[in-house]
Amino acid sequence: MSRSAFSTSGRRPRPEAVEDISAGVEGWFGPEEGRLLYRLAAEADPAGCIVEIGSWHGRSTIWLGAGAKAGREARVVAIDPHTGTYLREHGETTEAALRANLARAGVLDQVEIVVARSEEAATGWSRPISLLWIDGDHAYESVRRDLLLWGRHLLPAAVVALHDTFVWPGPERVVQELLIGPGRYTSFLHAETTTAARRCGQLAPRAALVRRAGLVRRALYGMRLRAYDANTHGFATIRDALARG
Ligand SMILES: C[S@@+](CC[C@H](N)C(=O)[O-])C[C@H]1O[C@@H](n2cnc3c(N)ncnc32)[C@H](O)[C@@H]1O
Repeated sequence: MSRSAFSTSGRRPRPEAVEDISAGVEGWFGPEEGRLLYRLAAEADPAGCIVEIGSWHGRSTIWLGAGAKAGREARVVAIDPHTGTYLREHGETTEAALRANLARAGVLDQVEIVVARSEEAATGWSRPISLLWIDGDHAYESVRRDLLLWGRHLLPAAVVALHDTFVWPGPERVVQELLIGPGRYTSFLHAETTTAARRCGQLAPRAALVRRAGLVRRALYGMRLRAYDANTHGFATIRDALARG
């Protein structure tokens, strides 16, 4: 199978090929949430850009770049200091791997790589944002800071998506407190551990009802996911203990 994300007839990356390439990239980001990001990136308003906080080796960046190329061609800005704690000890960086993976996927020209921490890159930032993807430092304070810092630049109908919600306390608390609580986000979507929602103003009664139904669906999905996670984790703990004798 070709390693290019592009069909031979044109420059539109196909999700099947993107999945194939992304599977060969180190990371913790799954194919279902990849397809969700691809769709959101394809729909993203090119009057704003797509901002990614946390790229690592580029799994999610590839999905964003491919979706943008297949759709309305919003620019992708991928922000990461590329100095994970254990990497620093070895004097290594993930930037080279990111560049190579984006080039192999054929999306490097769609992506601007910014080697900086989110909070540094936000200083002096002035471009509007149509899609904000948060997958950086997962501590509650950091996720909250990322959303507040970058949220200032969101277009009125921009989409915010966060990774590792439902099962990680930091990202999930931010979803509850900043996306669900104040009622300024609607059209909630989820895939694997990713949650996405669209900015909105005051909703009419019918739209508010649809929003509430969406939140009930999300809550039920979260319960299932956490139960599965607990079972799997519990099973693995018992299996490992038995294996140790
Ligand atoms: C879970 S990984 C990202 C995975 C990536 N999205 C993928 O699909 O494989 C988290 C990344 O966040 C980065 N990071 C940590 N703190 C950050 C910060 N303050 N600003 C931007 N990125 C940060 C780390 O360097 C790391 O590469």
